[in-house]
Amino acid sequence: MCGIIGYAGHRPAVPLIVEGLRRLEYRGYDSAGVATVVNHDIELVRAEGKLSALEQKLSEKNLINSTSGIGHTRWATHGIPVERNAHPHLDQEGRLAMIHNGIIENYQSIKEDLLKKGYKFRSETDSEVLINLIAEGRKEHPDMLEAISWALKQVEGAYSIAIIDVESPGTVYAARVSSPLVMGIGVGENFIASDIPAFLPYTREVVFIEDGELLRITASSWDVFKSDTLEPVEKEINTINWDVQSAQKGGYKHFMIKEIFEQPKVIFDCLAGRVDLANNKVDLPELDDMEAPKRLHIVACGTSYHAGLWGKYLLEKWAKIPVDVEIASEFRYRDPLLDPDGVVLAISQSGETADTLAGIKLAKEKGLPVIGLCNVVGSSISRESDHVLYTQAGPEVSVASTKAMCSQLTVLMLLAFYWSKRKGIHDTKQFAEFLQDLKSLPSVLESALPAMRDRAKVLGRKYADASSFMFLGRGPYFPLALEGALKLKEISYIHAEGYASGEMKHGPIALIDQKFPTFAIALNDDLFPKVKSNLIEVQARGGHIIALTNPGTDLEVEHEWTLPEVSGPLNVFMVLPALQLFSYETADYLGKDVDQPRNLAKSVTVE
Ligand code: F6R
Repeated sequence: MCGIIGYAGHRPAVPLIVEGLRRLEYRGYDSAGVATVVNHDIELVRAEGKLSALEQKLSEKNLINSTSGIGHTRWATHGIPVERNAHPHLDQEGRLAMIHNGIIENYQSIKEDLLKKGYKFRSETDSEVLINLIAEGRKEHPDMLEAISWALKQVEGAYSIAIIDVESPGTVYAARVSSPLVMGIGVGENFIASDIPAFLPYTREVVFIEDGELLRITASSWDVFKSDTLEPVEKEINTINWDVQSAQKGGYKHFMIKEIFEQPKVIFDCLAGRVDLANNKVDLPELDDMEAPKRLHIVACGTSYHAGLWGKYLLEKWAKIPVDVEIASEFRYRDPLLDPDGVVLAISQSGETADTLAGIKLAKEKGLPVIGLCNVVGSSISRESDHVLYTQAGPEVSVASTKAMCSQLTVLMLLAFYWSKRKGIHDTKQFAEFLQDLKSLPSVLESALPAMRDRAKVLGRKYADASSFMFLGRGPYFPLALEGALKLKEISYIHAEGYASGEMKHGPIALIDQKFPTFAIALNDDLFPKVKSNLIEVQARGGHIIALTNPGTDLEVEHEWTLPEVSGPLNVFMVLPALQLFSYETADYLGKDVDQPRNLAKSVTVE
């Protein structure tokens, strides 16, 4: 779970690589480093901590003349986050340098063999083992491609790697298995990276690299081969139509708040071309060649898992499809009993989450078709899936997922509608009204957001010294309570638990006292009386309560937070930003690193 970039071209490579790393920092920020060939030697500069530490070190060097190189921003897996474990890693002779994202699972046994041959290691990383294995391969195979291919045949695990060699300055080699890798094709320059924004200011022409492929770039050429046989592979060049500007902060203090405020547009974009008001229907042509499934198995992690839990309510209610929702890291290691007529729906913003990807592979082994619900176009999950629905939320930079969940909820809602209509069980009048309301939702949300933020600021500050929070919701708002708790803990580091409000009395109510506030979702729906009585139980134990509610409810709690009421399931689009804003304002008030919370990374490409 790191960011990698490689460049071969005509510009000064080091500043370009550092700039690319800045756009990849969301993938990890424990340490960073660059390597380039200067005067037949490798120049290696690495620093512990964020990219600014590396920039400081680079400012003391003169590496301006080099026009090729590699760079890495690290999220530690093997070896603590200190400089000796930072990438790039050199082979023991210092003739090769490599950056690596992923895990080499059998590195211990390879390391033992290399130790017996006299190799010495400077770090605890699996990556240093791999570059030395490649150096060992070089003894028998002077051609770099052959040496890399020889080494990769022996490793098990996940990797995207890039390598430079003093013997071939101006050339970068790269390969992947189960870790993201894309190639950018420029004019007189070529790039490799974990993700497109790294090189987007220079080119929009992109080639997606598949598992088991090995490539070589120079300023004027690029070639892709099968990693095991070195047979050339024909690749398609894709043109990317989003720009770097959309991945920048646009005047906001943090990406997270910018992304929260982008949600009206995200809903609009998700609906565009999919909602046909005139014919009272939803178009999802990606799924037209399949029947509505008999059973749906949703597999996802974190926030995407919460979106899936919410989707279950609508898919069962509207489309009458039984839905199981599974945490991908559990699903992949069970021997799940999947309905042979079922379909797996994998939800992932990044499309690179290792556990979700493994869940897809398991489903395919068991013969089930897979639908991927992804944000990142061309991501591994989108390519592994039989059908792909894109959420079209645009690049999400803040580590805490916000607008991506909003887009997932929107598409899940469209999916429930689409399948209910395909099955001929939808209520025509009710759905016509619903589609009308859905179309006006972006503008309703847009006008509500500034007041929501003000309320979040007041309440976030008031409770910023709490050490624990309880989030409560019922029915479709139970997954939202889980999400509210996840957001608060990940960015403000305040402990929080999400609970089904009816479950409180079975244990957690024992925690409630004056110092343990509750954040409840108590909207004006069928379950309101039940939630209200759960909150009375909390009040009776002296607990402070913040409650999201609607105008006209007879809730009497210490802090009512009234949201505009929209129709039925659309209320989730009011609740979600309120929860996000509460966490954001709390964390910002506490001075936390909102966009890059400690110990986290945006794209979890390791188990
Ligand atoms: C929380 C968060 C994570 C991700 C999870 C899955 O704010 O961002 O919980 O939701 O790591 O990531 P994707 O959706 O990329 O598979």
